Amino acid sequence: MDKFIPVCEPMLAGNELNYVTDAVSTGWISSAGKYVTEFEKQFAAYSDCKYGVAVCNGTVALHLALVALGIGEGDEVIVPTFTMIASAFAVCYTGAKPVFVDADPNTWNIDVIKIEEKITPRTKAIMPVHIFGQMCDMDAIQALADKYNLLIVEDAAEAHGATWRGRKAGSCSHVGCFSFFANKNITTGEGGMVVTNDETIYEKLKYYKNVCFPMNGVRNYLHNDIGFNYRMSNVVAAIGLAQTEKADEYKAMRMHNNELYRCYLADVPGICFQNILPQAECVSWMNTIVLDPALYGHTKDELIAFLRENNVDSRLLFNGMHRQKSLLDFGCDCTGEYPVCDMLTENGFYLPSASSLTEDVIKAICTLIKNFAK
Ligand SMILES: Cc1ncc(COP(=O)(O)O)c(C=O)c1O
Repeated sequence: MDKFIPVCEPMLAGNELNYVTDAVSTGWISSAGKYVTEFEKQFAAYSDCKYGVAVCNGTVALHLALVALGIGEGDEVIVPTFTMIASAFAVCYTGAKPVFVDADPNTWNIDVIKIEEKITPRTKAIMPVHIFGQMCDMDAIQALADKYNLLIVEDAAEAHGATWRGRKAGSCSHVGCFSFFANKNITTGEGGMVVTNDETIYEKLKYYKNVCFPMNGVRNYLHNDIGFNYRMSNVVAAIGLAQTEKADEYKAMRMHNNELYRCYLADVPGICFQNILPQAECVSWMNTIVLDPALYGHTKDELIAFLRENNVDSRLLFNGMHRQKSLLDFGCDCTGEYPVCDMLTENGFYLPSASSLTEDVIKAICTLIKNFAK
């Protein structure tokens, strides 16, 4: 490859600069400003939710959501072991314990069949994480939540605009949490949002996000609870609004790129993609492949090194939560077997995934992969 192909880069092809310039030139650079309100409104609507609360990243979106739901010390929250560490850390911040469930071998999302055996009298919530933009089986998770009277906190950090049987990510639970990190389909560089359809939860989200100033709006500097400053600035929200205007366009680009990878790698032995269920529309946040070294003839690490020599970047997949020293030290139960997660960590990685990738580049990457197979 003549030019280095990064694993991801943001696409800022709309009104980003206009809106940021407006925010800066009018002096509205703090969290008070029209872009925060408008971004919250537009992104919540995009996610089929009534309310949105913009925050400074996806990790604090999860923490804020859990706090607003009243989750704290002594509670347990079911979390997939195959996820980004923020899902589990957010639970720890509240004092509650994350409890891990292995991934489904086809979808790589939480294995819904294995959730029930992890539910105890202390379980308060399930946190489905929509891995790589494919929503979890929200029907099965809702059925468990109804049976055991549990809350659901969707970690939709990777799934902007994804659907499960036509229902949008973030709208299938009490709260949905998004990340707008630079590699996400919709980005603000750093940023996040919590969406909900519940007005009481919405009021609590706003309250805890803004250091628990009194809910009635009186600025008397009397704070009845411990709160957080998780506010997003108007400058950042200006980018978010411009991105939301393009959300469906960027989603279509990522989905198309994923189809191209699947098509050009279809006849390469030992390469496997995430299986997308018919109920799900996956927004293909990252183009992830899992290698069977016996069939492909090389290990994942050898292929990654070969791609790097040819100017193609890639990234490893998550290490499971059950393998994290931090979580073990926190008191999480890391015993038990998580073979699917371990297999994904061992054999999987991301290929370049920017929305702006061209078909020629994808084809060239796939040709490299094909030619390297033994
Ligand atoms: C599944 C998942 N949850 C949470 C996060 C955290 O989001 P942020 O990096 O914006 O804090 C990420 C970020 O990549 C993620 O992939």
